[in-house]
Amino acid sequence: MSLLEVTDLTMAFGGLVANDRISFTLHEGEVLGVIGPNGAGKTTLFACIAGFLKPTRGQVRFAGEDITGMRPDRICRRGLVRTFQIVRALPDLTVLQNVMVGAFLRTHAMREARQIAEEVLAFTGLEARAHTPGKNLTIADKKRLEVARALATQPRLLMLDEVMSGLNAQERQQAVTLVRAIQRRGISILLIEHIMDVLLPLSNRVLVLNYGKKIAEGSPDSITRNPEVIAAYLGSSYASPS
Ligand SMILES: Nc1ncnc2c1ncn2[C@@H]1O[C@H](COP(=O)(O)OP(=O)(O)O)[C@@H](O)[C@H]1O
Ligand SMILES: [Mg+2]
Repeated sequence: MSLLEVTDLTMAFGGLVANDRISFTLHEGEVLGVIGPNGAGKTTLFACIAGFLKPTRGQVRFAGEDITGMRPDRICRRGLVRTFQIVRALPDLTVLQNVMVGAFLRTHAMREARQIAEEVLAFTGLEARAHTPGKNLTIADKKRLEVARALATQPRLLMLDEVMSGLNAQERQQAVTLVRAIQRRGISILLIEHIMDVLLPLSNRVLVLNYGKKIAEGSPDSITRNPEVIAAYLGSSYASPS
């Protein structure tokens, strides 16, 4: 079943067309990777899908319903949530409290929110940081907290915007493991990631953006062999994977 259907999505900022008639489908259960050079329109696409920007034209359907232009909290309630490239955790709240903020989307009961948050902290490996203020976390833990807050809203589709940028190799590996575990829970994932070596093995399919347009879509293998993609983004080292 297709969970997310984006049709002819266009987002113009004055004369600048950041997303230009983008169409694609995400199937329930899959990890769909989104790549493209800086400024290609990836974050704008997330913002349009999740309701933070109102697209100039086009349609976003989620679980069979037209959600185009709907407010972010309403979209989130339907089970679609995004993280932010610039981490948004509340600096003076503890990790547990930050995650509880996400849980309050589904419950008004303090105890239940705490229970959901604790479960998410265990799942994301943040248990030991539960009482640390958000501002005192390392970059890697801040990114992890961003994912944990989103998970606490109990999504069907999680959109991750560069949650692995700025991490070292070991932290990145842990993040990869977490993304796989999220997929195993049956949560679908739309994944923006700059680091190709990380994105390709994680993705069932990949979407490539360049200057606001979708220039390719397909299996990770077909993407690395696509001449237009190589020219736009990957560079010659990806033309013949070793
Ligand atoms: N709120 C905005 N107002 C004006 N221009 C914007 C805004 N957000 C993004 N842009 C522009 O849209 C283009 C796409 O940006 P973005 O979606 O952030 O790309 P990416 O995430 O792929 O790096 C860029 O040229 C950027 O400067
Ligand atoms: Mg971006």
